[in-house]
Amino acid sequence: MVTVGIDALEIHTGKLALDLGETFAPAQGEDPDKYRKGLGLYSSSFPDAHEDIVTMGANAAYRLLKRKGLEPADIGRIDVATESAFDNSKPVSTYIAGCLEQVFDSNFHHANKGERKFACIAGTQSLDDAYNWIRAGRNRGRSALVIATDTALYARGDAGEATQGAGAVAMLISEDPSLLELSPEQGFGSADETDFLKPNQQFPSVDGKRSVQVYLARMREALSDFESVSGSMHPDDFAYVPFHTPFPGMVRKAALLGYRHIIRETPIEAELASEIGRQPRPEAFDDESTYLEAVREYTDELKTTDRYQQWYEAAIEPTLSISRSVGNWYTGSVHIARASALKHAAETDRQLTGKRLLVASYGSGAQAEIHAETVQSGWQEEIESLTIDEQLDKRHDISFEEYERIHDVHNHDLSASDVDSFTEPADEFIFDGWGEMGERQYTYAE
Ligand code: COA
Repeated sequence: MVTVGIDALEIHTGKLALDLGETFAPAQGEDPDKYRKGLGLYSSSFPDAHEDIVTMGANAAYRLLKRKGLEPADIGRIDVATESAFDNSKPVSTYIAGCLEQVFDSNFHHANKGERKFACIAGTQSLDDAYNWIRAGRNRGRSALVIATDTALYARGDAGEATQGAGAVAMLISEDPSLLELSPEQGFGSADETDFLKPNQQFPSVDGKRSVQVYLARMREALSDFESVSGSMHPDDFAYVPFHTPFPGMVRKAALLGYRHIIRETPIEAELASEIGRQPRPEAFDDESTYLEAVREYTDELKTTDRYQQWYEAAIEPTLSISRSVGNWYTGSVHIARASALKHAAETDRQLTGKRLLVASYGSGAQAEIHAETVQSGWQEEIESLTIDEQLDKRHDISFEEYERIHDVHNHDLSASDVDSFTEPADEFIFDGWGEMGERQYTYAE
């Protein structure tokens, strides 16, 4: 059977940085520790005035194609996952292909293009589409380009303003991949929920506290569903467990839930029993609320055990490093969690070939998906090619007043076009004004 997975990836961060503890918290009259310790975030990336979801996606994709020595003829489909689209008809992938055609001698007319929408899980769904296309044998030897790109902005004054971010991840999905093979096994948890939505509006209507609970509920279902096809799991089966990371504090909750689930009926549960007892089982309780209370108590105890904390430090903490500096990238978020983990392995000389990751995605509205990935022998070279650290270092730090201005620039109702860029565009695609039909136009700045 042909192996299919992620052959290569590139990350593009928005070029501005808002320091949450130093700049945002004081302006909100809040304690910086809410951000640094509570949410686990240090700064958010923002798009400069000349950036948007198209430029960020095109810049990531162009770097990826150039580095891999690929031409448009090598790409059979371009799928963009986003929840920040500005056009209800023409997909963002066509805008991005148009950008790329400015810098290649050939075109993407042969490539199937689309746009995927299901909140933050759409990036993972696009990987699925590419995987299925290749496994179905319809790819004629070509690869798929999957681009997750978002400007995760909330209305001024919304609680979600704490977890904003902007950036893009471009991934090449191929036969015989160099980086990661995707498992055919998947688990889903999916339900009609109204935790976060954008009914024909740019900024989300969000019930933040509820969205946290819905994330956990759908993730629990996806774990059970995944186990039903993969067989029972053990925490040591996976080197890292990247989760969708709207903010690292969310992953703290999800990881604990996942660990509790995975250790049930394993020797780990038995070993921990002398310290914290066995996990409560519903059949031992007369009603659900007493059972749930017992689960809460067990979970609180589990969190304090050395065993859990060691696993968290090894398998979860390394997935959070990029997120802490960039905030929420919606569709790209789980993909930067995976990249953070692989970066950590490369930086600590960890031998990863043949090891597995458990990747847990989530999108509001709501759906969770879980699958496994097996690390391939070219992983280290791939990951060492990433330039995300240099990009983060080069970001322009914005003051609170500059933040207010740039938020207005990216507000579709205001489109404050008289704001100059904070950074000088160079070797990148930029937004270049409006066309006659209201289309956004782009050019490549040398
Ligand atoms: N020191 C340490 N921790 C602090 C703190 C301080 N001074 N002040 C607050 N915190 C902690 C809180 O206890 C809370 O942690 P907990 O959830 O583990 O209890 C965390 O920081 C956030 O504080 P909270 O008061 O709940 O923040 P908020 O009202 O601004 O809401 C979100 C946070 C995430 C709900 C909000 O930003 C939001 O709606 N985000 C968008 C939706 C989203 O990302 N959902 C996630 C699922 S996709």
